[in-house]
Amino acid sequence: MEKTWGGRFIEVTDALVEELSASIQFDHKLYEWDILGSKAHARMLSTCGILTQEELNAILKGLDEIRDEIAAGKLGFTIHLEDIHTHIEHRLIQKIGEPGRKLHTARSRNDQVVTDVRLYLRSEIDNICGLLATFQRTLVELAERYADTLFPGYTHLQRAQPVMLGHHLLAYYEMLKRDRERFTQCRARVNVLPLGSAALAGTSYPINRVMVAQELGFASVSANSLDGVSDRDFILEFCADAAILMMHLSRFCEELILWSSSEFGFIELSDAFCTGSSIMPQKKNPDVAELIRGKTGRVYGNLTAVLTLMKSLPLSYNRDMQEDKEPLFDTIATLNIALRIFPPMLRDMQVKRERVTATLEQGFMTATEVADYLVRKGVPFRTAHGVVGELVRYCLKENKTLRSLTLDEYQQISPNFDEEVLTVVLPEAAVNSKNSIGGTAYEHVLAAIGQAKEDLAALESANEQGERR
Ligand code: ARG
Repeated sequence: MEKTWGGRFIEVTDALVEELSASIQFDHKLYEWDILGSKAHARMLSTCGILTQEELNAILKGLDEIRDEIAAGKLGFTIHLEDIHTHIEHRLIQKIGEPGRKLHTARSRNDQVVTDVRLYLRSEIDNICGLLATFQRTLVELAERYADTLFPGYTHLQRAQPVMLGHHLLAYYEMLKRDRERFTQCRARVNVLPLGSAALAGTSYPINRVMVAQELGFASVSANSLDGVSDRDFILEFCADAAILMMHLSRFCEELILWSSSEFGFIELSDAFCTGSSIMPQKKNPDVAELIRGKTGRVYGNLTAVLTLMKSLPLSYNRDMQEDKEPLFDTIATLNIALRIFPPMLRDMQVKRERVTATLEQGFMTATEVADYLVRKGVPFRTAHGVVGELVRYCLKENKTLRSLTLDEYQQISPNFDEEVLTVVLPEAAVNSKNSIGGTAYEHVLAAIGQAKEDLAALESANEQGERR
């Protein structure tokens, strides 16, 4: 089969070289974007007097037909034609002849491929941001459901202080909010047109890059042709943002796994999101959470792969860069499944309230409240800390909880105690006293839910306006 670059070659390409250099197995994903970019390029070439109107019409019609052929699975792919760009150009020439041979005027595969990837990634980022929005809305719904559900808060995985479960869930809302911001900022740097950089130096044809940028919805054109063809920062940035997002999901998964163990027993995930064991009939395993936690590793790996790929490349384009695609595609596929499966898994999760409440009675989770209460009575904090330490020791010895101690017992340890201490040790009192900004008091959880709803609605209407523009 004729190579697009075959002119200077006499011998045929070694079969192993074709096997090594082909990327069509994965870059066929880019076909729609390649055709979109080619159509914009052709229109610009015709406006600039480089193609005639008839040539343009033939090219546009041919490209549309090829898009339909590929969509219908009718265009066979072969490694002899290397990549998606060559396949489409080859098919175009087959279909329309001479005008097809003019499409590649004033461009190179080097600026073409990175234009395609930018178009593709921009659309994938929009999709991911939509999935993140759904996830955020789910968290807000659940936070509302559990706004006043008392829950043990941990540090060092040791029971620390009670919080509202709604507050705990909203912590993940905040993480996802930052993730979404990061992707939105990344999108702005993706949205720059490299086409027109040609192979590396720019082109001597009288082209109009701004016209192509406008047609394809790019906010600007790249300023330096060498950088235009060799910059992959936007892929790295996306992969880094994805790695951070997966780290958040993985932490959440870890909690779900712990909470659904018999040892914790805080939640039960629904059957639809668990699997069983082939040998132990009693098992119900949180595989979804485990797999998302596991897939976080591959997303980190993809980031490392592209960083390593790029670290020693001289300017400008190097064929190594063809290796940027699989890690990117894999990252996008992983994010998609993780973000689609997580919200329904959460919505179906049952919280075992009695079990959760029982844990609040153990572990002296309101000990800090007692110390703070003594401080309010004029006892220096360090002294109060010591007194409560003694109380805890007493409870451990007598097998009692702070709540089950009588006022008498309190007063034996310090005369500063009065009746009020009996309500201070209640978890709901502890939680509702945490009314600093960002604290877990019920009224703050409600306010945070209100704020989150406002933020989500504002983002939604901004997106709608963006779409109409
Ligand atoms: N398939 C190639 C890639 O993904 C397209 C660019 C090829 N350029 C070249 N000079 N061989 O990078």
